[in-house]
Amino acid sequence: MSQTLVTSALLYANGPLHFGHIAGAYLPADIYVRTLRMRGEDVLSVSGSDDHGVAITIAAERAGEDYGAYVKRWHDDMRATFDALDIRYDIVSGTSTCPVHEETSREFFEQLLERGFLVERESEQLYCVHDQMFLADRYVSGTCYVCGHEAARGDECPACGTWIDPLKFEDPACTVCGNRPEKRTTTHWYLDLPRLRDDGIGDWIRGHRWKSNVANFIANLLEDVPERAITRDMSWGVPLPSFLGDKAEGKVLYVWFDAPIGYISFTKELLESRGEAPDAWERWWKSEDTRLVHFIGKDNIPFHCLVFPSMLHGTGAGYVLPAEVPANEFYNLEGGKFSTSGGNAFDIKTFLGTWDVDTTRFYLASTMPETSDSDFSMEQFIQIANTSLAGTIGNLASRVLKFIAKNHGGEIPPIGEAYAAEMDTVLLSECGELEDPAEHITAFRFRKAAEALVRNASAANVFVDRMAPWALRKEDPEKASASLATLCDYLGWISRWMAPFMPTKAQTLWEMLGCDGEVSAQPWPGVPEAGAWRSLPAGQPLGELGPLFPRVELPKASA
Ligand code: 2FM
Ligand code: ZN
Repeated sequence: MSQTLVTSALLYANGPLHFGHIAGAYLPADIYVRTLRMRGEDVLSVSGSDDHGVAITIAAERAGEDYGAYVKRWHDDMRATFDALDIRYDIVSGTSTCPVHEETSREFFEQLLERGFLVERESEQLYCVHDQMFLADRYVSGTCYVCGHEAARGDECPACGTWIDPLKFEDPACTVCGNRPEKRTTTHWYLDLPRLRDDGIGDWIRGHRWKSNVANFIANLLEDVPERAITRDMSWGVPLPSFLGDKAEGKVLYVWFDAPIGYISFTKELLESRGEAPDAWERWWKSEDTRLVHFIGKDNIPFHCLVFPSMLHGTGAGYVLPAEVPANEFYNLEGGKFSTSGGNAFDIKTFLGTWDVDTTRFYLASTMPETSDSDFSMEQFIQIANTSLAGTIGNLASRVLKFIAKNHGGEIPPIGEAYAAEMDTVLLSECGELEDPAEHITAFRFRKAAEALVRNASAANVFVDRMAPWALRKEDPEKASASLATLCDYLGWISRWMAPFMPTKAQTLWEMLGCDGEVSAQPWPGVPEAGAWRSLPAGQPLGELGPLFPRVELPKASA
């Protein structure tokens, strides 16, 4: 039986999550996992924080904090944000705290070394005499020799995405003290990506069916793929295996080497904590039945589509390769870039103090940057909340359920045999084309899935207008009752369709219908088929009614 292993990028623990991260890699994973689970599939979901690397050490040093304490603060903040947004994983761990992460990462190093995919080499690196250290990655900056951007970092140019060789900078500067570094010799280990490409990963990449925006990105990546240094001269990170002896002293694995291995070590941590056998994780990571799905933002594409698969393949240990990498593009804040460090963001937990969490989730899903960059706009947020949610789904629930409360004693009316077939025909084929949102969700089209949900609800509003039960009850009370019973059943479908997007509101609607249990624990309904879709019993008392989606408006600017 197939099973799905879902990962979301391990974000650097150096700042708060913003909506760009959420819409990019975390909310889509949550909606996807919730849908698969309702479809009865076997799913494991993993995420957490990337605690190592220069992005952390520089930020912690600037904050004057100890690395471990700094990382813990942001890791806890990440968890609090996931909780506030109802985003759930089976495990959220961290690469500096997961008890098996170092051992798992070193095992990768050893297997790759043994199989000849790591090259040991002495080379010149930039060294800051003032700070007495080799300048790894972002510890050095300079002008990008490809695009001319003046603030390129030693690992990557933020403007053009080039993997930078800092020795090629004409104006290198230490980012700690600003001095010009000198060249000194040191030993490092390099991942032999050209050999891995020729060993099969190249063919795998060329033969894989990638999401279109991902395919564009990696098309050129293979041609001049370079060897990549996977060790660094620094103290914060995973120490190299001790059998390497003195030459490995003071060195750690490069953060981009150990980070994706975190997906595996966190899986081990989770299954061990559940008391499963020590090799239980292999059922996920080394099984042909596993579909591995990485949710990431587009800046992480090369590592998830080339480097990590090469590492997995290179171990020869039988790891699965990703089946899907549904990378999203960037999500901007009203035209500008969401940026934690640049201050162009707002605190999600504060935002949720004012705005409803499910409305927020739905809005983010409706505007997700799936195929091109997109924008968060407060005006559009209000508009979607008031038209799709309050105006369409909320209005439907309220007009139907209030009417039943008033005119049918607050109980689901009987359908009666005479009208059931007619009701099915009208609602299921004459009021609009119904679509299964899961068909889109499983193809990573979250925006279309959100649209399908709203369109399905609109069809029911058309049905209400057409049946006009308030008028019909005088001339044909039996038919009026049948139409209301039909709408109640259909609202039950809407609440299940809503569940992956808006788990709390879906539950509220489910309870308004008088249904028991968790709506998220119900089987996924698909689309209703005439004659075989009703389930709510006549006479079932409705639950407590209230507005499902109250209309919202922006607070008036104070004069
Ligand atoms: O972009 C980032 O924040 C990286 N820390 C993502 C790593 S994803 C995976 F490799 F863990
Ligand atoms: Zn310096």
